[in-house]
Amino acid sequence: MSDTRAEADVIVVSNRLPVDHSEDAEGGWRRSPGGLVAALEPVLQTTGGAWVGWPGTAGLELDPFEFDGMSLVPVMLTDDDVELYYEGFSNDTIWPLYHDVISPPAYHRVWWDAYVRVNERFARAAASVAREGATVWVHDYQLQLVPKMLRDLRPDLVIGYFHHIPFPAYGLYSQLPWRRQVLDGLLGADVIGFQRVADAGNFARAVRRQLGFDTKAGAIRVPAADGRVRIAVAKAYPISIDAALFDEIARRPDVQARAVEIRESLGNPRTVLFGVDRLDYTKGIMHRLKAYGELLAEHRLDVADVTLVQVASPSRERVAAYMQLRDEIELTVGRINGDHDTVGHTAIRYLHHSYPREEMIALYLAADVMLVTALRDGMNLVAKEYVASRIDGRGALVLSEFTGAADELAQAIKVNPHDIQGLKEAIIAAVQMTPAEQTRRMRALRRRVRDHDVAGWSKRFLADLDAVRSDR
Ligand code: G6P
Repeated sequence: MSDTRAEADVIVVSNRLPVDHSEDAEGGWRRSPGGLVAALEPVLQTTGGAWVGWPGTAGLELDPFEFDGMSLVPVMLTDDDVELYYEGFSNDTIWPLYHDVISPPAYHRVWWDAYVRVNERFARAAASVAREGATVWVHDYQLQLVPKMLRDLRPDLVIGYFHHIPFPAYGLYSQLPWRRQVLDGLLGADVIGFQRVADAGNFARAVRRQLGFDTKAGAIRVPAADGRVRIAVAKAYPISIDAALFDEIARRPDVQARAVEIRESLGNPRTVLFGVDRLDYTKGIMHRLKAYGELLAEHRLDVADVTLVQVASPSRERVAAYMQLRDEIELTVGRINGDHDTVGHTAIRYLHHSYPREEMIALYLAADVMLVTALRDGMNLVAKEYVASRIDGRGALVLSEFTGAADELAQAIKVNPHDIQGLKEAIIAAVQMTPAEQTRRMRALRRRVRDHDVAGWSKRFLADLDAVRSDR
């Protein structure tokens, strides 16, 4: 095995590595666009840290390798693991359950068995690269059992876990047949981070109700096997983006020229509405389309003045609920366009693609109104990216109150996406917002995103893990 083994002081563990295996990319690897990479790469580069994760292709068995100053430690998933652990338990049990059962979760014992087996594989991989007393930071709902497994293997480690998605209310959480095992798994961490204060509260309540542990002010007293009590901290660390990077790219002349070109290619409508989401039932895309379609049908909006650009990036395409949603969205878009398009104007420009960051920022700059109508979302970084890209201080953000971002972005136009009438009024208010009002709101929104960026987020979390080490 390569000499990255038993070497690292800081180890990040997430389902996906920060790079995707890609035949066309130079060296066979392409950096994934996510914000997590941007936040953690500097930490790993300066500490000589390692990242443990799946390279994104079934059956790919690889030795650890170096990428941009980080040691990457691939974990192999077989075709069966992808089907049962990733598509099954992670994305057809936990994902819908934790997003308030928007889509019905399926509970299958063979999926659970695969989840346990794969979590064990990740824990063992992390344990094998961690130096004595190292810090291990585990990420997200695919790996909830890893903290405890890792603690059992390596009691010397300082272990953090961050939960990127919502943690549901107890009444829903208690559906999970393995609810105690999952809580035990998470409680293996010293610090358990959530997006919102409400998520941390839901978790603490589940721990009280299921395990009977004392959870005062987010400090959970976990009885250890030796009869002693360990404190696990559960609290909110709202994630963010690299705001300065979005600002910098938005100032580039080529990106600004591209924004102008995008508007021109749409026929220079007076108002461009914009939605961009992974194609996921949590994102409220159907609610958005319904509201917009009704506004056109009632002639409150007209395709001669307004266009909606909807980017839906392909996601989890072998999971039935996602296939069905795609069909519903595409049927609805086809109907709305068929009813309202003219030869020269389109109601919805629908794009089932993902785009590089520069193109996304050009789209943000081209959009007068950003629509974020998620039914439930841990944070929603699109809302923050839009704000960070609006270097001109213009644009209006319509934001669902069911996103973590709504806790922070007070000057957005808040909506309950289930209330179609309310959503329609919010869209009209955004379309009609005066430039002075846009500027007033955007200034405050931009300040918030600039002062709470992703570097601050990882610093806060890691500082709390350091405090655990000092206490020991
Ligand atoms: C959400 C999750 C991430 C996940 C991402 C993409 O943001 O919190 O853990 O990586 O979606 O989903 P995928 O299934 O493609 O990894």
